[in-house]
Amino acid sequence: MLNTRQVNDLAIFGGSPAFQEKLHVGRPNIGNRDRLQERINDVLDRRWLSNNGLYVQQLEQRLSEFTGAKHCIAMCNATVALEIVNRALGLTGEVIVPSFTFIATAHALQWQEITPVFCDVDPHTHNIDPRQVERLITPRTTGIIGVHVWGRPCDVEALADIAQRHNLKLAFDAAHALGCSYKGRMIGNFGEAEVFSFHATKFLNTFEGGAVATNNDELADKIRLMKNFGFGSGYDNVVYIGTNGKMNEVSAAMGVTGLESIADFIGINYRNYKQYKAELENLRGVKLINYEETEKNNYQYVILEIDEQEAGISRNEIVQILHGENIMARRYFYPGCHQMEPYHSYFPNANLLLPETEKLTQKVMSLPTGTAVTEEDVSQICNIIRLCVKESAEIKTLIQRQESNA
Ligand SMILES: Cc1ncc(COP(=O)(O)O)c(C=O)c1O
Repeated sequence: MLNTRQVNDLAIFGGSPAFQEKLHVGRPNIGNRDRLQERINDVLDRRWLSNNGLYVQQLEQRLSEFTGAKHCIAMCNATVALEIVNRALGLTGEVIVPSFTFIATAHALQWQEITPVFCDVDPHTHNIDPRQVERLITPRTTGIIGVHVWGRPCDVEALADIAQRHNLKLAFDAAHALGCSYKGRMIGNFGEAEVFSFHATKFLNTFEGGAVATNNDELADKIRLMKNFGFGSGYDNVVYIGTNGKMNEVSAAMGVTGLESIADFIGINYRNYKQYKAELENLRGVKLINYEETEKNNYQYVILEIDEQEAGISRNEIVQILHGENIMARRYFYPGCHQMEPYHSYFPNANLLLPETEKLTQKVMSLPTGTAVTEEDVSQICNIIRLCVKESAEIKTLIQRQESNA
């Protein structure tokens, strides 16, 4: 049994893995299969596979009801949605974004030759630090893109205040934040627009997909045109430069089906989160991030910060051990956008302005959760993490020995 698992039982030292199959962080949530299959058959029967079909319309309607945002526009993925929002907002020159995010936030700008200017984060919230934003503003700055990392909302008010004072556009990458709230209001209602991701690994998925939420009618109209090649009314009337950002009907059917189970998904994530919290409480050097219980959260991410000094073992070593056990924990957002290309070549010294980001990229990791993870799985994972910390000295010695023999 795992409770009696010793260092020598760890798979990286020759034992057999705790899990026979890989347990991924973002194993997809799937709603009611029968209903999904009925809907897919319906799509096939109608032979209306894309181009603002009935399921896309339904999904948009239900997302609007769920978030309270006036417009929710379904998209093929969040990256293209971000690109379209950036263009629809008329962003040019420089835009301030965190580096502690998924690379798509930066790429959606650079793809349009807008320079992402990386801002440091607040080490407590992991979100863009409004106090650092202002000093990065130059005459070329046109906007700020905040990211609600792990679904925990940015300091929206402080960012809105800066944007207003400097006449900048403000939008949010809300890829993680469907079902979350800020001061009691659902994410989807802040800035000029917010972008959700429904990628397979996300809490609500449409295989691939995303949506733009906005309360601005004019912006919504523009985005709808842009995601459909810029076609205005009528077949032959192109009024903007556009692209193809449309969501297909099978994806939308998946989204509608998933939304019907969203309360269950959140319930299971919450159960897992609470169990992780209880089992890892008071473990030296291991901190599980908190969610504000007075807000709505989706608890999609179970995030640890590992303090190597205190834990006696590094984040990377723990991840290495977990991978050996087929627990596919992830380092996030390692190594930070500013360390990736092309940004590293463009701004080789960006790290000097990003001390908190640099620290977080060395200590943050995420653990498996979602409907595919059972209570027993969580217990096993926590047992291994506790073993890593309890026997850190011996584990470090063995890893070093392995490395010198390699
Ligand atoms: C913060 C963030 N932004 C953007 C994206 C891109 O989303 P998509 O895969 O839907 O393009 C992701 C994840 O995939 C993300 O985590």
